[in-house]
Amino acid sequence: MNRILTQDYTFKCSGLKLPKGAMITAPAAAIATDPETFPEPNTFDEHRYLRLREQHKESSRSLVLGMSTIDSLGFGLGNQACPGRFLAVNNLKLMMAKLMAEWDLSLESNGQKFQGPRPSMEYNDFSVVPPSKLSIRVTKN
Ligand code: HEM
Repeated sequence: MNRILTQDYTFKCSGLKLPKGAMITAPAAAIATDPETFPEPNTFDEHRYLRLREQHKESSRSLVLGMSTIDSLGFGLGNQACPGRFLAVNNLKLMMAKLMAEWDLSLESNGQKFQGPRPSMEYNDFSVVPPSKLSIRVTKN
């Protein structure tokens, strides 16, 4: 998330002074994977946000896919936060639902069904990608 300062700014917490015209960026990925905010951030945990919503009922409406908070900057923040995020996440949910309902997905290693434990995910820049040593077979139900 990037911003250009339209006036001089001093951070209240640190006293750091930045001049008008400075370009600043927020380390969105580092913040989203800060273990003090999200324990074990690199472990797949399908109930992570369900638990957070139960623990923080007062802010449960912002703990959803497409959220824009100081801990989750993937869609930016404030009055310039991405206006297309609801369209984007609803489309992703629709695509995922169609994939799950109409297609079978399985992992393969050298053309054979992969039998081992769940392999670790890999990272490609900011993207989490399937393990590069395995392939994914997609067949219609
Ligand atoms: C997963 C998909 C998407 C991601 C990760 C994403 C992410 C972002 C981010 C990080 C920003 C900058 C926000 C900021 O500076 O605070 C942004 C801005 C913007 N996005 Fe998206 N976006 C996505 C999809 C879309 C879609 C589908 C649309 C339109 C249909 C859209 C339209 C816009 C527009 C118009 C802005 C500029 C908002 C402004 O400056 O006021 N985005 N997006």
